[in-house]
Amino acid sequence: MRILHLSDTHLDRNGAPDADGADGTAALRILLDGLGHLDGIGAVLVTGDVADDGSREAYARTHELLTAYAGPRGAGVFYAVGNHDDRAAFADVLGCGHAAPDAVYDGPGGERAAASTVGGHRLVTLDSLVPGKGYGHLSAGQLDWLRGLLAAPAPHGTVLAFHHPPLALPGVEVQRVFGLHNAAELAAAIDGTDVHLVLCGHFHLQLTGRLGPATVWVTPGVVSRIDLTAAPGTERAVHGPSATLVDLAAPYGPLLHTLHAPDPRAGTTVYEAGAAEMSEVLARLGP
Ligand SMILES: [Fe+2]
Repeated sequence: MRILHLSDTHLDRNGAPDADGADGTAALRILLDGLGHLDGIGAVLVTGDVADDGSREAYARTHELLTAYAGPRGAGVFYAVGNHDDRAAFADVLGCGHAAPDAVYDGPGGERAAASTVGGHRLVTLDSLVPGKGYGHLSAGQLDWLRGLLAAPAPHGTVLAFHHPPLALPGVEVQRVFGLHNAAELAAAIDGTDVHLVLCGHFHLQLTGRLGPATVWVTPGVVSRIDLTAAPGTERAVHGPSATLVDLAAPYGPLLHTLHAPDPRAGTTVYEAGAAEMSEVLARLGP
């Protein structure tokens, strides 16, 4: 089974470039046009920041573009929420993020997780959103639900998908502050289970590591990519919509390959934030 893993599509209400020139709608279109040859896709997954502005229009346009891609391939489309998403608008348009879930967790404040089985693989989306903040957290209720779900193994194991990565590159402050804050609790919840892969976004760059029994993969953003060659403590985002092809099949799975769209602006700057601006962002959106 193959998953096309996207994240941070950041579409907005207007479908037009923002002040920096970032344009989630155009980036998603360029990416999907570039992926026309892919086959064997069983699921298309977006791990959050589906909308930049939390608008219903953005969710509807994203879903229209992705179902036009996934539908002819017989693939389902799955969504998790990110820090830019609005739970109510997301739910109005995308429901729990699964078209026909096996199980749904409905928590306080619209918090929602769901599970589906695709070709014997269990795909679970979690809600790591902390409204108004840049970092992530999984509630105790959601982790209890997950433990109950994982008590029975799936035929081909379980993939978890959510926005905020449970790991960070040492020395990259923005990742330490804005990652998943209770990664150790999640690691305990999946210990001894059939979870073998965790798919995340949010950092707008590719990164891999481990959490308990699972490989963790962070896919680069669709709307932009963070370029860590910028000076420490500063941030530079560049154009270049990217996605990950996840192949779960033996003998190599999970096999992860990053796909870069043929965008003529790839590598050119979307925005640069200096150290003072980044300090302000960390203070405002951090714990
Ligand atoms: Fe994010």
